[in-house]
Amino acid sequence: MGKTQDLYKLAKKLIPGGTQLLSKRPETFLPELWPAYYEKAKGCEVWDLDGKHYIDMSYMGIGACILGYADNEVNEAVKYVIDRGNMATLNAPEEVMLAELLVALHPWSSMVRFARTGGEAMAIAVRIARAKTKKDTVLFCGYHGWHDWYLAANLADDRSLDGHLIPGLSPLGVPRGLKGTALPFNYNDIDGFLKLVKNTKGQVAAIVMEPVRNHFPDKQFMQTIKQAAHDNGLVLVFDEITAGWRLNVGGAHLNYGIEPDIAVFGKAMSNGYPMAAIIGRSAVMEIAQETFISSTYWTERIGPAAALVTIKKMKDKNVPGHLIRVGQKVKQGWQKAAGNNGLSLDISGIDPLGHFSFQHDNPLVLKTLFTQLMLEKGFLASTAFYASLAHDDGNVDKYLRAVDEAFAFMAKAISEGKPEKYLKGPVCHAGFKRLT
Ligand SMILES: Cc1ncc(COP(=O)(O)O)c(C=O)c1O
Repeated sequence: MGKTQDLYKLAKKLIPGGTQLLSKRPETFLPELWPAYYEKAKGCEVWDLDGKHYIDMSYMGIGACILGYADNEVNEAVKYVIDRGNMATLNAPEEVMLAELLVALHPWSSMVRFARTGGEAMAIAVRIARAKTKKDTVLFCGYHGWHDWYLAANLADDRSLDGHLIPGLSPLGVPRGLKGTALPFNYNDIDGFLKLVKNTKGQVAAIVMEPVRNHFPDKQFMQTIKQAAHDNGLVLVFDEITAGWRLNVGGAHLNYGIEPDIAVFGKAMSNGYPMAAIIGRSAVMEIAQETFISSTYWTERIGPAAALVTIKKMKDKNVPGHLIRVGQKVKQGWQKAAGNNGLSLDISGIDPLGHFSFQHDNPLVLKTLFTQLMLEKGFLASTAFYASLAHDDGNVDKYLRAVDEAFAFMAKAISEGKPEKYLKGPVCHAGFKRLT
């Protein structure tokens, strides 16, 4: 099968689950055939361990690499830091520069804490909100990482119901005592949200949500959220870990005129080097000194150095403008190819983070077949496209021609009545539901 598949077989024996991130599991793409490992990644090109070359038209480092892989300018800044020491007993000056920059980009904020990964940054935001309000309950919608505060939503009185609120995320190992401390609402559902606020009066610390993801925010919904936070003294936390930096340089909330109390940034801000930031109003953030939030590697220097250059390049090159244009082109291309071949797709997501699902029987079979056909044509592809600066018209046009061919093959397979007969391995696993 080659080195790439052999290594994954070994990984599954040594590493529970095979990978450290659910979204990187080969089984969620193309079981037994997806190239699980890369030898080199540059721009939007990837080489696997067997020297096979692909254009990545899928998740671009699961959303972490907006500028493309191994960006030269970011790498230069990182190499400068490596030569001068990534770690010391003293602190990295870049973190103060980055704090200044983030506050300048978000004038409603005045203080910043740093972490390195998205889930931990969200846990910090929730800790700060609970410390500030002296309340425990969190109202949330969307996905916010793996930590106990969030998975608590899936604890139920009846163990057999555990997991039903956010399908796909198991709360096994999360203390049952946290039951009822994280309560979900649906995006753009004003009535459901207001009911939840009413039923939890006096208990809530925070409202936690992404400002935008699959759907654009309804203006009245956002105003209702803001008003409820204000009227009840709740901390409004916007999770910008995936939405941020793609529609504009900074948090997506800047587009909608609603200012939170805290906004959290992660992966995309430093183009593949670990970095995360929790920015907020000083009236809320200052409480961080009175609880214990502290970790050695939150002080390393590569993260803030990479973030400073990444954000500068996003501004200089109007990267969000490029992501929106390329993302729109891909979404339109999907629609056109589906129309050409008589397939029915449901296309959604903001332009830089577009995705689709097949509106036919057995959508997972079709998703698997699509990934298989595209891989054979030299593309890492799934039912989503995360745009990057490295995606130019040349590789997008090539990709869309391949999509058209793949859809033509699939339409024929569907009309024959048994598309699964063309699969060379098992059907892909479903991911988790995001409640957005
Ligand atoms: C909105 C959102 N919040 C939190 C996270 C968790 O971030 P991380 O995987 O870096 O822990 C993600 C990751 O996909 C995300 O999309």
